[in-house]
Amino acid sequence: MEKTSKNTFYITTPIYYVNDIPHIGHAYTTIIADALSRYKKLAGYDVFFLTGTDEHGQKVEKSAAEKGLKPIELADKVVGRFKNLWQALNISYDGFIRTTATRHEQGVQKIFKILLDKGDIYKGLYEGWYCVSCENFLPEDVREDDQGRKFCPDCEKEAGIVSEKTYFFRLSAYQKPLLDFYKKYPKFVRPKSRMNEVVSFVRQGLKDLSITRTTVRWGIPVPGDPEHTIYVWFDALHNYLTGIGYDLDKKTFERYWPADIHLIGKDILRFHAVFWPAFLMAAGFPLPGTILGHGWWLKDESKMSKSRGNVLDPHVILDTLGPDPLRYFLLREIPIGLDGNFSHEGFLHRVNSDLANDLGNLVQRTLTMISKYFGGLLGDVAPENESDGHLREEFERKKKTVLGYYDDYALNKVLEEMWTYINSVNRYLADNEPWKVAKDPEQKHRLSRILYQSAAAIRTIAVLLYPIMPDSMNKVWDLVGEEGSIGEQRLANLHFEDLPADRSIKKPSALFPRVDLKDFLEEKKAEAAPKIQAVKEDKMEQITFDEFKKMDLRVAEILKAEKVEGTDKLLKLEVDIGTEKRQLVAGVADVYTPEDLVGKKLIVIVNLQPAVIRGVESRGMLLAAEIDNKAVIPFFGPDVPAGAKVK
Ligand code: ME8
Ligand code: MG
Repeated sequence: MEKTSKNTFYITTPIYYVNDIPHIGHAYTTIIADALSRYKKLAGYDVFFLTGTDEHGQKVEKSAAEKGLKPIELADKVVGRFKNLWQALNISYDGFIRTTATRHEQGVQKIFKILLDKGDIYKGLYEGWYCVSCENFLPEDVREDDQGRKFCPDCEKEAGIVSEKTYFFRLSAYQKPLLDFYKKYPKFVRPKSRMNEVVSFVRQGLKDLSITRTTVRWGIPVPGDPEHTIYVWFDALHNYLTGIGYDLDKKTFERYWPADIHLIGKDILRFHAVFWPAFLMAAGFPLPGTILGHGWWLKDESKMSKSRGNVLDPHVILDTLGPDPLRYFLLREIPIGLDGNFSHEGFLHRVNSDLANDLGNLVQRTLTMISKYFGGLLGDVAPENESDGHLREEFERKKKTVLGYYDDYALNKVLEEMWTYINSVNRYLADNEPWKVAKDPEQKHRLSRILYQSAAAIRTIAVLLYPIMPDSMNKVWDLVGEEGSIGEQRLANLHFEDLPADRSIKKPSALFPRVDLKDFLEEKKAEAAPKIQAVKEDKMEQITFDEFKKMDLRVAEILKAEKVEGTDKLLKLEVDIGTEKRQLVAGVADVYTPEDLVGKKLIVIVNLQPAVIRGVESRGMLLAAEIDNKAVIPFFGPDVPAGAKVK
């Protein structure tokens, strides 16, 4: 949508739940937002970049209870961890909104009241299936299993039934207005494939949405009816208004609203592309410009999440390498919209080849030569020859293309294009061979031009890459004798020839050191191991012998073993536990083949609640040690019979 004031740019990330610790997935969204926000600032916009935390709801309530904390205590803790990570990643947000802040709670209540008075919110009775983990109602088409249970199609966890008096939002009334809106603004949701998904969902019809709970205490009370709390998603989405001063700071609010871009992962597309514009229409606000839904970072082919236990802690990388290699990798590796698989090998390969070799060496070589041959001062530079001119002209072309990609939010293309430019500068040096020219004192004047050209190019590279790697590009900025931060510059003023030849250039120190994969992984493991242990010890409480006795641990013999189709790690096992045969699913296929296991005896806990893992039922669990994420199973010798009790 068009904004009245054209020079502002308002960008948001989702507000993250405080039940989870921050991981690479959260970092990804926030890095994209930071890069776009820094770019827009350089392009001369008045930018507001908002992030924050989503602190209400059953999920947070439950997770706090499990840890023996009050919800607000958990929230305070986890908010600190998010803020630390944002600092370590050099995230330059302008506002941080917590949904437990008074300014937010009052804003949400006010809007609730407006919609209630208007008739878009009304009281009724709700009955249905609800997934606590996703804070979402199950779709109509999810069927019950033979035991009358339903499982959430998103997270595969068991759902519960809720039946309660509730306030509904009249979503059904917004089907047509939404479809008209999508038609008028087909780029509202990007990428395009996601827009199509949303349109076909809305075309199937919209039901009124239950937006309050009586069973959840940890939420914003409904104004005038405090037995009810406001549904966490109705609460959370309005952060985008309260975070810029809705109802408190009219000037700021009007300066930035509507948002230009809401950045989200594809998991929360429906909330943002359907519910959110409907809420806004109902309350009479202008609608946001773009919902940009990016893909998922996967680890071992499945989505990273705390409940799956495959979360990658970015601090492991940040502590050694600083923020920029990770920022670079996440934005370079996949186009926004597609999924990516994170591996340390892939990450370090890019760090070494793109950052250390291509870019790092270019800076290192050029500035070292200026220092060595000219004491850092090029002085009077020889006139350009044809190949010098080509490099300068190439900058003009690249600048145009790269800014176009930034404007299109295509950050991986920005980087691809920038690397073709970096390689051109490297080629320019290879063609002009300054290290040879330097051997002939007669050619010193010519040498000054070659090195000037390269340094001038490096200066432009620093500015164009700054939104993505602010920390290291500011270092380059300083090396080429500039003052302050690139953030204070304007792209419109960026010219190749603006490097004054009489300026003193500094001697470089390694910008992106090479990292050896083996050393890195081993070092990290050694560091991580004591940490993991400490966390676990810290968390495990003591149990009584009676509690221990509740576990039915037995020797079991493996009768059959086969891989669970479509997985790398899972085996389906049939075991004899003495009294009966049981089916188990075990995540050991990366270490043991089915042949390794048949006939072996091991320990199984047989009275563990059954679970369905990737569609296969598992009744019990085998015990194994975990070493570097891999299972090592203790086996018994042949003289131990199946069914023997372990205690
Ligand atoms: O959904 N890959 O919060 P949340 C890529 N509170 N991005 C990922 C990711 C992964 N593996 N995991 C998480 C919520 N993300 C609500 C939002 S907004 C009004 C309320 C990112 O803590 C991605 O942006 O579950 C995703 O949408 C978001 O974290 C979900 O964070
Ligand atoms: Mg989530």
